[in-house]
Amino acid sequence: MTDRCNLRCRYCMPIEEFGPGHAFLPRAEILSFEEIERLARIGASLGVRKLRLTGGEPLLRRDLEDLVAMLAAIDGIDEIALTTNGLLLAHHAEALALAGLSRVTVSLDALDPAVFGRMNGTGAKVGRVLAGISAARAFGLPVKANAVVQRGVNEGQVLPLAEWALAEQVTLRFIEFMDVGECNAWDRGQVVGAAEILAMLEGRFELEPLSPAHPGETARRWRHRGREAEIGIIASVSQPFCRDCSRLRLSADGHLFTCLFASHGHDLRPLLRGGAGDDLLRRTLHDLWSARSDRYSEQRGDTHAPKAEMSYLGG
Ligand code: 5AD
Ligand code: SF4
Repeated sequence: MTDRCNLRCRYCMPIEEFGPGHAFLPRAEILSFEEIERLARIGASLGVRKLRLTGGEPLLRRDLEDLVAMLAAIDGIDEIALTTNGLLLAHHAEALALAGLSRVTVSLDALDPAVFGRMNGTGAKVGRVLAGISAARAFGLPVKANAVVQRGVNEGQVLPLAEWALAEQVTLRFIEFMDVGECNAWDRGQVVGAAEILAMLEGRFELEPLSPAHPGETARRWRHRGREAEIGIIASVSQPFCRDCSRLRLSADGHLFTCLFASHGHDLRPLLRGGAGDDLLRRTLHDLWSARSDRYSEQRGDTHAPKAEMSYLGG
């Protein structure tokens, strides 16, 4: 939707790289809602069923609810999700729900104000995120919370987050800190692995494993015994799931990425803006997907080309 964000999470957009001097995409390079809708419609004709709006922070894109309505009207699309940091969610929840949004994923790495503040690189308060989550639920949107766990930063928040999610009956996912992009100073020592997260959780809660809800499910999931609340761990570093991945990512400026860890995407704008018909676009999408052989997470370390940033190519 956009490569901009109103937070500066250190693991994603560290202020040293994304400070006042950073050149974000110029407006003219960003796809219009009509261009996005057209690609989504062509994707749907090839079998795409789920869409996820990401960024950067997608709610920084003005009138995002209008795009949601356009996408919801496409034949074949049966789910439209939004990944957001939640800061602007309270303002938009009602309009998004009315426009046909199916669900929301909110990043929530800490409940402790000091830890949250250190991680997000701005003065933003966690209360605003929690208010966004409440508003979304009040308007009937199912909410999932995502917490990236980094050693020495927020592993002490794992249990408080799990307690909160259980009390609030919010689905929670812990995510291993990944080496997306080039500027988050990733090192393996900062990854808190799924096994360690699970051990922490099992020390406090009685968890029952759940089987995958669908093929390509990225999280291993558990249910709190006797409760509905579900908790999951996305072990993208310690247990990569490339072979089940069925995601295609479209950057704000129209580059199609077949992997979160790719260096380059395929620029669709020359076709989109050069008068290409739907058939040519459909063939291009089809051929790009058929030729896909990405399995970065299973090969980690073997490639050296600089990877695109997540704020640019989408989470
Ligand atoms: N490792 C793991 N998760 C990340 N996210 C952003 N950067 C990383 C990273 N390096 C998360 C965000 C958001 C989701 C889209 O991905 O916190 O919840
Ligand atoms: Fe913004 Fe999300 Fe990246 Fe944080 S993780 S800087 S909220 S895009």
